[in-house]
Amino acid sequence: MTIIRADQLVKIYDSQSGKIHALDGLDIEIPEGATALLGPNGSGKSTLIKIILGLLKPTSGSVRLFEDRANTAKQARNLIGYMPETPSIITKVNAVKYVRHFGILSGLSFTRAMQRTHEVLDYVGLGDRYREIDGYSTGMKQRLLFAQALVHDPELIILDEPTTGLSPEGREEMLELIREIHEEYDKSIMFSTHILQDVEAITNYTVLLNKGKTLFQGTSEEVAGLYPDVVIVEPDVEIERTAGILAEQYQTNIIGNQVHITVNDGMQAPTMTQVASLLQPAGIGVLSVQRRSPNLEDLFLNRIEKDINQ
Ligand SMILES: Nc1ncnc2c1ncn2[C@@H]1O[C@H](COP(=O)(O)OP(=O)(O)OP(=O)(O)O)[C@@H](O)[C@H]1O
Ligand SMILES: [Mg+2]
Repeated sequence: MTIIRADQLVKIYDSQSGKIHALDGLDIEIPEGATALLGPNGSGKSTLIKIILGLLKPTSGSVRLFEDRANTAKQARNLIGYMPETPSIITKVNAVKYVRHFGILSGLSFTRAMQRTHEVLDYVGLGDRYREIDGYSTGMKQRLLFAQALVHDPELIILDEPTTGLSPEGREEMLELIREIHEEYDKSIMFSTHILQDVEAITNYTVLLNKGKTLFQGTSEEVAGLYPDVVIVEPDVEIERTAGILAEQYQTNIIGNQVHITVNDGMQAPTMTQVASLLQPAGIGVLSVQRRSPNLEDLFLNRIEKDINQ
């Protein structure tokens, strides 16, 4: 099922410095599952999310949600949970009141909202829930925002930069919660981020925006098939000399302290033994040889750079 479909979306903001085309004829079609929403700063990710949620009206174009099961902003909010980018948190209330408030806003009765509030705060591991939000750490605030997005048991959870500003452990924990809500509770998620590793392991569909347009959308398998695989060789010393020797037989690039061999169509990927036997006569040892398919970083760099150079 297609859960989000946008056709020719345009959003023009009027600002003091003139008109800003935040979305410039954007088309997307997102299936159920876990989607990464990627793009450089200012590419329109947050604007798109706000239009999906009915918080902003597009200048032109249309959005269809859940194949027309959500025709009004209210219906959309019942089916979608939203974890915002910048926490516009009311600071003088405690976590229970805060989450309960969102539960009631999305149509739950007081009793049900109260019950769900404790369930979701337990789920995200927020124990200290009767203290004012004011004094919460960034990690606690992010957990609270996640709980608020889940309180009404939505089918789709949209997370705008959920791991920004977290410590490494906090980030891991947040990612684990997101993964679990998708894999174990079977919810669809859409996740915008700048940290590509954060979405790589969780999502199976990618939308890449630039300058308010869709540069790419497709499955992880489609991403993996976009460019040739590479075999990554890590020598013990002398990267330049290693690359020089391998370049006699292969197409190579030096990336950091590794040599990347491009595995073009119809070519056998070199094995550890083959690479070692080429380098051994020169006295170069090999630490590792690994084959890798294109990932989101390759997609991001290739497509965004191409778009900038056009
Ligand atoms: N309320 C607003 N008024 C005027 N311009 C805006 C407004 N909100 C966003 N913009 C502009 O619209 C463009 C898209 O912004 P948006 O916040 O959607 O991008 P983003 O992809 O979420 O960026 P980031 O990665 O920095 O969060 C940017 O040029 C931004 O400056
Ligand atoms: Mg944003």
